[in-house]
Amino acid sequence: MQPIANRMLNYLQPQMYAKFTMLANQKGCINLGQGFPNFPSPQMLRDALSEEAQTESLQYTMTAGHPKLLNSASQFFEKQIGCKFNVDKEIMVSSGAQAVLSCVMQGVLNPGDEVILFDPAFDLYRPMIEFQGAKHIGVPIIPKKLNAKQDILKRYKNGKFDYSNDDDWNLDFNYLERVINKKTKLVLLNSPMNPIGKMFSTEEYNQLADILDRYPQVVVCEDAAYHHITFGQYQPFNYPRCITHPRLKDRTVCVTSAGKMYSATGLRIGFAVGNEEIIKGLKAAQTYHIFCLNPVIQTATAKCLDQTQDGKYFNSIRDLYEEQANMLLKGLVDSRLNMNYWVPQGGYFIVTDISNIQIPEKYFNDNGVRLTRDFAFAYYMINEFGVVCIPCSPYYENKQLGQNYVRWAFCKTTETIQEAINRLK
Ligand SMILES: Cc1ncc(COP(=O)(O)O)c(C=O)c1O
Repeated sequence: MQPIANRMLNYLQPQMYAKFTMLANQKGCINLGQGFPNFPSPQMLRDALSEEAQTESLQYTMTAGHPKLLNSASQFFEKQIGCKFNVDKEIMVSSGAQAVLSCVMQGVLNPGDEVILFDPAFDLYRPMIEFQGAKHIGVPIIPKKLNAKQDILKRYKNGKFDYSNDDDWNLDFNYLERVINKKTKLVLLNSPMNPIGKMFSTEEYNQLADILDRYPQVVVCEDAAYHHITFGQYQPFNYPRCITHPRLKDRTVCVTSAGKMYSATGLRIGFAVGNEEIIKGLKAAQTYHIFCLNPVIQTATAKCLDQTQDGKYFNSIRDLYEEQANMLLKGLVDSRLNMNYWVPQGGYFIVTDISNIQIPEKYFNDNGVRLTRDFAFAYYMINEFGVVCIPCSPYYENKQLGQNYVRWAFCKTTETIQEAINRLK
């Protein structure tokens, strides 16, 4: 008997994040691996959850989302990004951005379709694409240069890095031109990016739109899970986006996460907004999967959206994350690890290049299997420094391209970041 579907066979091992969090707990490490905030979620969310638990119905609610949440989300988006989405047709709620993305894959892709990703791409995209019998193609984003300690410190003044440099990571448009074709059904991009913290510029979206003009069948999925964490010149929610780009918005579905917005990754509420025809497919996917979400959690989230519609809360959250990013990046630069660095423009993470680092040979061996450098480095960090980071090769189609990069999460308390810095000194 083989009770497991073939498409699942490559994915039976625990996910990398769960594995590294487990190791962090077992070995008493500082966990800068998994991207969850380790500070308390806002009291307003806890209050809303208790209030709604007493009053909200616990019966099935609408598949697309509880009407109160759809209304609140629609008003929030209108206020914050200036787009008015029709509550009945252009917006949907699912169980976190992850389930929304799964609905996108199910709702948009046919077997044999091709999906373009920009590498390094969040590693859950690839299995989701494969589960639909579709094919993923990674277009690399190339670092313009490796910034050694002295280079990156030129961008550090008065306790802050200069976050306004758009040129750290460049999208390879020639590569995109070579791989896009009539079978391409979806272009999936993420801004601010997990893991590198890049945000796409208006010029990059213009170039993308020029290319996509020749491929009318292509849907764009903008994963904006971190749309409220934008540094330097960019304001929360208001930065170059596909969903507001005049030539991309009609073919875009934009995915966001209330869990990320309220620093509560266990909340499991995510949104899709965009073109009615695309959202129709997502709703159908949801109907035959989870059917609907927990109403209490939805109406509590609606209350939070109403209370934070003026954006003040998100300005303070952005400032907090920017401070943590400055602190961690300076700590990494001053550590005894001789790495190369980039300044993230948003999100939860910093990526560093480890090509200069001598990793003891024993960390390359995993029960007879030779590991890539990023994994060997992560085990070296866990065992000899007591700090967890995340290897980046899983974010690449071509794993070799990612084997010199690792990811460090700064969505952590000052005490946690300080302790990691102390251990890396
Ligand atoms: C880029 C990106 N998209 C989507 C998600 C999923 O978000 P959620 O926790 O709302 O499912 C994550 C979570 O880490 C992410 O990093």
